[in-house]
Amino acid sequence: MPVDEVKVGIVGLGLVSDSHIKGYQAHPDAEVVAVCDLDEARAREVCGKYGISRYYLSYDEMLKDHEVNTVDITTPTILHAPMALAAARAGKNILCEKPFCLTLEEGEQVCRAADEAGVTLMVGESYIFMTSMMKVRELVDAGEIGKPQQIRQRFGAWVERPGALEASRPVTDLHRGWRMDTTKAGGAGFPWMFDHCVHFFATAEYLMNDTRIRQVYALKSQIDWDSVAPADGQADMNIYRPEAAGDIPIITWTYDDPACTGIWMRAEPLNNKYDPMYGFTLSLIGDKGMIEVLGEGGTGLKWEGKDVHLILHRRNGPTDTFRFDEGGDDIWQSDVSYYSRAHANQIREFVDALIAGKRPRYCGEDGYRAIKTTMAAICSAREGVPVKVSEMTDERFGA
Ligand SMILES: NC(=O)c1ccc[n+]([C@@H]2O[C@H](COP(=O)([O-])OP(=O)(O)OC[C@H]3O[C@@H](n4cnc5c(N)ncnc54)[C@H](O)[C@@H]3O)[C@@H](O)[C@H]2O)c1
Repeated sequence: MPVDEVKVGIVGLGLVSDSHIKGYQAHPDAEVVAVCDLDEARAREVCGKYGISRYYLSYDEMLKDHEVNTVDITTPTILHAPMALAAARAGKNILCEKPFCLTLEEGEQVCRAADEAGVTLMVGESYIFMTSMMKVRELVDAGEIGKPQQIRQRFGAWVERPGALEASRPVTDLHRGWRMDTTKAGGAGFPWMFDHCVHFFATAEYLMNDTRIRQVYALKSQIDWDSVAPADGQADMNIYRPEAAGDIPIITWTYDDPACTGIWMRAEPLNNKYDPMYGFTLSLIGDKGMIEVLGEGGTGLKWEGKDVHLILHRRNGPTDTFRFDEGGDDIWQSDVSYYSRAHANQIREFVDALIAGKRPRYCGEDGYRAIKTTMAAICSAREGVPVKVSEMTDERFGA
């Protein structure tokens, strides 16, 4: 059902919530009317900073607020599915941050409950809303590279902009500290991978014309992380360093279309440094051309002496380059606003869909499929064999 105005209550006021709030405040048809966190000082601070009139310290109380017709869930991952389920039962539309759920069973339950209640359920998947990724898809749709056949993604650690994260807020079990605790972040011993793989698989399907990933084969890292010091400026890695948990440096996959393949790899630190591109680069190869994204987290990226963010190589035509001058990012060191702008793009899609009464671009089923594919990757690394996504179960994963 279309709504006239989107009146949002946001639960979980940590790192990502700021980008969501800014996204709603930039949309003429949306208003954040309430926020909720267990940390009262933080709830007060957010209300003051963004001019929001009320806060709750209990999620159940916020769900009883009749003015709130939409709930945005930005809490630790263990709370996503239970909170989304309660929101659906309370008749609220839902935007739930990734990873959507910890188990397939709870993901299915939330999707069913949203359908039964007739509410909209979108999963927050910022990567497919990055300006560069949306441009890639636009070029694919325009037939610029013909049929996409192979995707190669490469990930390096993010580098924080000095002072961008809330240094004043201590790391606790509720705030940031939960991320490497596999019981709260998911992943059956691979919490970092569980948190991030969903992004890579969502991107891999989106840019491959929505072709579904069928089978995954991943390698488990044998690096002795005790012998590797964090690189300079990698404050974030002090929490996210994978030494405390299972780690996967390379994942390969095939699609329902047997002509299509994909690979993701993580850049390893070398001599206590990551390479100067500091980030996520992507190549999408089609039968008539290739697109390269020098994107997320990149600084000083150059192609033939020019600062560019995206290159379109045509087999039988000229090469075009693109820049996205978005003023950098609020949180991470980058030429492009891959994080902040992606969240704003995602929130705009969600609000527009609610106003129009349409399905948003990334729904519960999509978030669920990304979890199932991620589980397949983790099982593959653990077991040393390729794993079909369709064969994943909670029992095999150990969720
Ligand atoms: N798409 C992206 O780019 C992106 C980026 C960051 C985080 N995320 C996702 O967003 C989610 C939140 O991550 P974060 O980094 O913002 O977390 P965070 O640790 O910074 O903040 C979590 C917040 O939730 C609050 N909280 C915990 N339990 C609560 C409860 N029962 N009721 C109300 N509030 C509660 C905490 O007090 C804290 O303020 C994660 O699942 C993460 O994967 C996505």
